Amino acid sequence: MNAVQDPVARVEAAVTVAVGTVGGEAASGIGATLKPSAKPEFGDFQLNAAMALGKKLGRPPRDVAAELADALMSPDHGLEAVIDAPEIAGPGFLNIRLRPAALASALAGMDDDRLGIEPEIETHGVTIDVCGVNVAKQMHVGHLRSTVIGDTVARLFERVGRTVHRQNHLGDWGLPIAMTLHSLLASDVDFDTLDLDTLNVAYRDAQLEARGDVRGLEAAIANRCGPHRIAELEAQNESAAAAQSAARDALVRLQSGDEEMVAAWRRLIEVTMTEVYLACDLLGTRIGPASERGESSFRDELAEVVDAFVRSGLAVEDDGALVVRFEDRERPMLIRKRDGGFLYATTDLAALRYRVQELDSDEVVYVVDARQRDHFRDVFDACRKIGWATLPDGVESKLVHLGFGTVLGADKKPLKTRSGANFKLMDLLQAAVDRGVAAVAGRAADPKAPTHGLPEAEIEAIGRAVGIAAIKYADLSGDSGRDYVFDLDRMIAFEGDTGPYLQYAHARLCSMLEKAGDEAGTTGTFRIETPEERRLALMLLRYPETVKTAADALEASRLCRYLYAVATEFSSFYAACPVLRTEDASIRTARIRLVRLTRDVLRDGLETLGIGAPERM
Ligand code: ARG
Repeated sequence: MNAVQDPVARVEAAVTVAVGTVGGEAASGIGATLKPSAKPEFGDFQLNAAMALGKKLGRPPRDVAAELADALMSPDHGLEAVIDAPEIAGPGFLNIRLRPAALASALAGMDDDRLGIEPEIETHGVTIDVCGVNVAKQMHVGHLRSTVIGDTVARLFERVGRTVHRQNHLGDWGLPIAMTLHSLLASDVDFDTLDLDTLNVAYRDAQLEARGDVRGLEAAIANRCGPHRIAELEAQNESAAAAQSAARDALVRLQSGDEEMVAAWRRLIEVTMTEVYLACDLLGTRIGPASERGESSFRDELAEVVDAFVRSGLAVEDDGALVVRFEDRERPMLIRKRDGGFLYATTDLAALRYRVQELDSDEVVYVVDARQRDHFRDVFDACRKIGWATLPDGVESKLVHLGFGTVLGADKKPLKTRSGANFKLMDLLQAAVDRGVAAVAGRAADPKAPTHGLPEAEIEAIGRAVGIAAIKYADLSGDSGRDYVFDLDRMIAFEGDTGPYLQYAHARLCSMLEKAGDEAGTTGTFRIETPEERRLALMLLRYPETVKTAADALEASRLCRYLYAVATEFSSFYAACPVLRTEDASIRTARIRLVRLTRDVLRDGLETLGIGAPERM
């Protein structure tokens, strides 16, 4: 990407060729990567390949290093204007220094709307499985992660020019939903004024009602627990059986399109999703009704999916049920129960076929709890076996389960309320927003603050952005597979590796540019002279590559780390290099332009992460 402009990428490409030329066959397996130098006096990058190559070739590494330097500077690579002649140091390191003029022209090359990111040429789209809420249930912290990480991974792909389909595979079908519907209809609730809390209670009660205690009864009989206890358990099991059969009736009515049932079901989805979209909007995600494709939308394909597996010989009967077996695992995947019912896996097979074949995706990423790993392994392998993961042009779609870890409380156990219930996601978000608003309002009280005197609504909007940034950045900046502790105090701090810190860094740059007045729009030439300017420039030049690798590796944390490094380099630059106070007009405009480019990279990076970047804080 962008090989013409980015001098670092050009040097890297030349290094790979040079190592091959000098090493011949010995070059295979030799790391030809540039490492940033520990000290500026060693240049910008170090190449260590001569050591390993010398050992393999049985030659003194310093000789090999000299040959590498010559090969690198061969006219073929055209690097004369890009780097100084490399210096050989110590046992055979090569120190490489970029020429200031090359840095300046590379910066100029990325200083536009694209910021050096060339759109990828694509033949297929990408699907991201996001959110995955369940109808009639409150969103909990797990859904925070599938929503936030899912949306950001989608944004990363969009930023590099891919066509992205966000798919929200809602749990909106099946027996638990029918149970809830039955219990709501039986208790005569007013469907017009229904809210999600009532639904949630109905859902839980319906589950409890249908859960008999067969084992308990058997144990009570075996242990001669006495007629009273046994009678009680028998009654409980009878009513559970009655509830189950009522739920099955409700499901049949729903499946056969019974008007009353279908209307109630629609309302259930509407009530749930209204709240879900409030959370999605507050979180600043691009997840909305257009992403909705729940389990119910595949209901008419399930029988056919199972048939296809039977016809291809991949599904076999097992005690009345149908299962798909895999050579390398003991447990088969159940796709049809003995009673003819379909399963979570059956629906996912239909959904995956749709995503690859209909949505034309050469990559499908499932941002779902890591504990569903085995499920996705089965579903992916089954789809590959039957051929649904292959696109019509023969391209094999990449299927990935991006499993995320659990959100923990201060006690390192899954985050729960004091009474042991799941946290409602909305309550958690509200707490963060309150903290953000308080922090921003507190700062605005200072007459010198850029936010001083802003209307209350604006302070609130900034505070909201800060609170949400705190939560999102904490979720995105770690390795997504790992658990993390939900610690609002740490997340919302304006110092350290936090979302608000990056927002603050961005807002400071905005203020500087505001003070620069007309000069903020300068097209003056970049001048990279001091070590701090050089380090900041090199960091900014890595932006396109960072976004691209973050998208490829599905790791938003790479972009988080990068933006944090940019903000840190900027602080060092600012401490060492006066900007607006500089007398020399050409240095001043050059520095202002560097400030502006840094601001643009931070703003674009935050936007790509899905984090708001207020101009004042
Ligand atoms: N509703 C599911 C749950 O809460 C998540 C859905 C994930 N996506 C999928 N295609 N299976 O566990």
